[in-house]
Amino acid sequence: MSQYWSGRFAREGMIWGREPSPSAEWAKKKFQEAGLSSVLVPGAGYGRNSKVFSAAFTTYGIELSTEALELAAAWDPDTIFIAGSALEPQLNTQIDAVYCYDVLHLFLEEERKQLIAASLAQLRTGGLLYFTSFSDEDRNNGCGRRLEQGTYEYKPGKYAHFFTEADLRSHFSGTEILQTGSFPEKLESEQGGIHEYILRYIVARKIN
Ligand SMILES: C[S@@+](CC[C@H](N)C(=O)[O-])C[C@H]1O[C@@H](n2cnc3c(N)ncnc32)[C@H](O)[C@@H]1O
Repeated sequence: MSQYWSGRFAREGMIWGREPSPSAEWAKKKFQEAGLSSVLVPGAGYGRNSKVFSAAFTTYGIELSTEALELAAAWDPDTIFIAGSALEPQLNTQIDAVYCYDVLHLFLEEERKQLIAASLAQLRTGGLLYFTSFSDEDRNNGCGRRLEQGTYEYKPGKYAHFFTEADLRSHFSGTEILQTGSFPEKLESEQGGIHEYILRYIVARKIN
């Protein structure tokens, strides 16, 4: 996994451009309304979305790819980036909120559970989680070799999990689920390529 992402960041730089996902602005507003002051961004990439949060909150990003971290240090100098895996807790402090964009669907079931457990371990009780991931309504769902239920190698060497509403909710059982939904996301690369995905999101509160 890390080789795949490092290769892409080395070749393509800011793969999805400089504009953040509208979901980051939306989550920022939710976190501000809740009076929160610190945010963790697991799988932060080159800081495209963490930059939205670092303008308003103490922000930490966890990222595995050295190439992404080099870009992130320049693009989002206000976020504290930690080199390491988001599948394990990396902070020795508890934070108020987690924003995790399009990372959960990259893993098989056991690792998806680890990502959520590690995120919850770093979140204080009462803190908020906002996650996005591929929807089962996305056109790539069901394409290619099936690896697990809902998980497909939709491009050679690249797989993803496609979430139904019930599946996403069941991943976050043990939290108080506040809101779920789906939205189309348009990503424009710096080279001018456009990719469109259907994403699901979930907002949840850590209850214990
Ligand atoms: C689809 S990209 C999303 C990047 C970022 N969230 C954004 O919105 O721009 C997935 C990111 O997760 C990172 N990643 C993959 N596995 C990881 C892991 N175990 N721990 C931390 N980061 C990881 C990749 O290097 C890549 O930057």
